[in-house]
Amino acid sequence: MILITGATGTIGSHVVRLLSEQGVPFRAMSRRAQPGHVRADFEDPASLERALAGVDTVFLVTVPPRPTADHDLALVRAARAAGVRKIVKLSAIGSGGIFGGQSIGAWHVAAEEAIEAAGFAWTMLRPGSFASNLLPHRALILAGEPVPNLAGDARQAVIDPRDVAAVAVAALTGDAHDGQRYDLSGPELLTFADQASILGRVLGRTVRIADGTDILSQLPAEVVTGIDWARAGGTAYLTDHVRQILGRPAGTFEQWVRDHRTAFAETP
Ligand SMILES: NC(=O)c1ccc[n+]([C@@H]2O[C@H](COP(=O)([O-])OP(=O)(O)OC[C@H]3O[C@@H](n4cnc5c(N)ncnc54)[C@H](OP(=O)(O)O)[C@@H]3O)[C@@H](O)[C@H]2O)c1
Repeated sequence: MILITGATGTIGSHVVRLLSEQGVPFRAMSRRAQPGHVRADFEDPASLERALAGVDTVFLVTVPPRPTADHDLALVRAARAAGVRKIVKLSAIGSGGIFGGQSIGAWHVAAEEAIEAAGFAWTMLRPGSFASNLLPHRALILAGEPVPNLAGDARQAVIDPRDVAAVAVAALTGDAHDGQRYDLSGPELLTFADQASILGRVLGRTVRIADGTDILSQLPAEVVTGIDWARAGGTAYLTDHVRQILGRPAGTFEQWVRDHRTAFAETP
């Protein structure tokens, strides 16, 4: 049995879809009462114990309210007790690097190390910026208001979330990727302005952007370090793992936009 955490989220929902299409048995986990989901919360050990009963392999997605490994560590503890064999963790590109004397993605690294130390088989997926990150700005885009740009002029390895999910499914359903850390990128490096331009062209409207760094003063220091690192070009590199693992090229940002143009429409 494969447990999919974050099953209502960006990557987890695609993992659920792909496993369903392939007829692979799985259990979807989230806090929300979705049909067919087991309800569990990383902050509720008893709910994790129920979710993990009889589970062999876990897809681990955590989005803690603050950047700590607490949710991952709770899952690791419960998974050990439940006799889980393997964990595929969604981490982030560049985790473990140092920028300006500060650690990048330290909470992901702490989680990765705990998974390794606990003796599970594992795969760590470390994607770049998701193509879907512009979706939450739909209302601004429709109103013709500028979208806040935190990335400056830096180029980023933007990746289609469907590719991240497809790689996760490959790692969850076979052993060829055990013991691997994969930095995952799309096929091209794009600035935020590039993404706005492509989105605007496909939608047939002008997508404006404006410096959004005034919000940095409200964010946790660990998050700001990651953003500063990306602004300095830290994520401006491509990898070939998606093509190697899936046997086809990674999807472009433009293709993702074309496939999701209705999500940006007045009435999605
Ligand atoms: N966005 C990017 O560009 C990017 C790039 C690289 C890496 N990442 C990494 O990707 C991860 C986020 O993945 P995502 O975008 O797929 O997530 P997401 O869309 O934000 O979804 C989060 C999922 O976690 C569940 N969840 C949240 N709190 C929970 C809790 N306390 N207990 C149980 N479930 C909980 C949510 O479900 P319910 O609310 O229904 O419980 C939801 O299914 C993060 O670790 C991030 O660092 C993101």
